[in-house]
Parts: sequence; structure tokens; C-alpha cells
Amino acid sequence: MDLEACLRAAVAAPSIHNSQPWRFVLRPGGVDLYADRTRKLGVVDPRGRELFISLGAALLNLRLAILSHGRMPVTRLLPDPGEPDLVAAVRFGPPVDADPAVRALADAIPHRRTSRRPFDRVLVPAEVLAELSAAARLEGATLAVADDLGRDQLLGLARSAERMLRRHPGYLAELTEWTSADPGRADGVPQAAFGPWDALETLPLRDFGLTRRTEPRRGAHFEAHPTLVVLSTAGDTPQQWLRAGQALERVLLTATVQGLATTPLSQPLELPRLRLLMTDRDVSAYPQVVLRIGYGPAGVPSPRRPLDDVVDRTGLPAATE
Ligand SMILES: Cc1cc2nc3c(=O)[nH]c(=O)nc-3n(C[C@H](O)[C@H](O)[C@H](O)COP(=O)(O)O)c2cc1C
Repeated sequence: MDLEACLRAAVAAPSIHNSQPWRFVLRPGGVDLYADRTRKLGVVDPRGRELFISLGAALLNLRLAILSHGRMPVTRLLPDPGEPDLVAAVRFGPPVDADPAVRALADAIPHRRTSRRPFDRVLVPAEVLAELSAAARLEGATLAVADDLGRDQLLGLARSAERMLRRHPGYLAELTEWTSADPGRADGVPQAAFGPWDALETLPLRDFGLTRRTEPRRGAHFEAHPTLVVLSTAGDTPQQWLRAGQALERVLLTATVQGLATTPLSQPLELPRLRLLMTDRDVSAYPQVVLRIGYGPAGVPSPRRPLDDVVDRTGLPAATE
């Protein structure tokens, strides 16, 4: 069992603003995953919803990596009410032979990236969209593909949200804190990953370059009719956010295997009034992530903190390793 490879897979997960809000404590026979709440984004994510989604994504990578290394991961979510930062306990279960689909997902982990560039004007086939929906379902979430009307509504909400957030001084300060032109920095969104500016403002992606206009950014024309999907869960608790994160990462890795590029568009979900407009309480569907998917250039890699900064090995007796 290559534990270091499994931990590297876990930290390759996406996280809100690349905040990497995780800590791993090695235990005999497994790994405990903790939330690092000092990395919570107080302005866009006061409840920690996106923090837990990020943790869920790391958990899915950890589970897949353990499985592809031949052990069944046995996972308990939020196992200890007295320890709210302990989000999951993962133990190495019996030996298993991972099937090719699992291996393909695990192999895709280092290749998955957020792409903020224009996508090609090529439709995503219905059977591929069905595969993405099945991936979400496997983790207890649902993925709805927006029809024409739904897309217009989502784009309208995202545009309003981006404008409203830009007027919030706290939002701008937080964006400055979590973006950087420093190539030595190990977290936050690096300048190279901001992507071009949408010259026609058709696609309201989050503008990470808003407070860093040190050099003029290239303009580009983005696709007018993006494929948008909404990932939802049946509840809105930390446990459901962890499910959403695992489902998100399974969807993103499935998309990567399919040669698709992806971009989360989270701004409308960060404003409670707008999120409420997207919430269907009749069918208990709480929107957790909006994703743009399509064929297009892969994203630019974003840095990760070194394993030594996020892994605590003191819980592991030397003899057991
Ligand atoms: C819960 C969540 C919300 C995110 N929201 C956005 C977003 O609104 N806009 C965006 O461009 N990227 C968003 N991302 C992507 C992160 O910025 C990205 O994962 C991080 O910068 C690391 O880069 P990578 O995905 O290329 O590894 C989100 C990621 C997560 C997990």
C-alpha cells in the first residue's frame, strides 16, 4: 500500500479558491481527515459549505487511490460529534482488485484541472451527460443538466451574483488574499490560472483577476451556449456537503476521463437570496455546485501545499509503517 501516493491523490482535489482546507492524521490502519477551519473563506463561505465540499472532494480522491492500490476503503463520515473538525475516518479494509473503471478515475486525478478558458462549440453527447449524472448518483447526489431556459436563468443569476459580490469590499479583500502572482506560493489561485477576460461578458465566470490588474489581460470570446449542470443533495448539512464534494469529484474525474474540461461557477450559491431561488424544497434539492462543462483546453496547474504541511504522522507508532 503506497500511502504517500494516496495522500498525494487526496491533496490534488479541487478546493474553493485553492484554499486546501484539510489536514490528514495517520492512524494505524488508516487516515483521519480533518477540516482546517483557519482556511475557511469567511466572506463567500461563512457556513463552511464550500469548505466541506472541498473536503469531500479530497475524501473521494483518497478513497479511489486506496481502492486502486488494492484495499477496500472503509469510510465513516463525521464519526465523532465531540470532535467537529474530524470529517471522516478512512480505514484500509480487505484486499480488493480494483476494476478498470476505478483505475481510470484514479489515473485521472493528477490530470483534472479547473479550466477558465473558452470551450469549443461542440455539444456534449447525451450519453456522456448521462454518465456524469450516474457518477453523481453513485455518491448520493443528483446532477441536472440545464435546458435552454435553465441555462439562461443560471447565467442571469451568476451574472447578478458576480456583480453583487464585486460591490462587497470584503469579497475583494478575500479575493486578493487568495490570488497571487508569486510563483513560490503553495495555495490560492495563481495568476496563470485566471484565464482570459470574457470580452463580451457572456459567461460570468468568477473573475480572479479583479484586484490584480497589474498587467493587461487578454480578452477572449467564450461560448455563447455553455453546457451547465447543477449538482444537488437532499439536505443542506455538513454531512450532505461532504457527499456533494465526493459526488463533485467523481463527476469531475469522469469528465476528465471523457476528455471534457470543467469550471465551477459558484457565485450564485454564495448569496443566500440567489441560492434560495435555485432551491427546490418540494423535492428537497439543495443546489451545491454549478458546473460548466465542455470540450476545451485543459486548465493550468495550481500549486499544492507540501504533504509535510498537511499530514500529521504523530498518531502512527513507528513500528506499524
Ligand atoms: C466548492 C468549490 C467551489 C469552486 N468555485 C469556483 C468558482 O466559482 N470559480 C472558479 O473558477 N473555480 C471554482 N472552483 C475551483 C477552484 O478554484 C480550484 O479547484 C482550485 O483553484 C484548484 O485548482 P484546480 O481545480 O485546477 O486543481 C471551486 C472549487 C470548489 C471545490
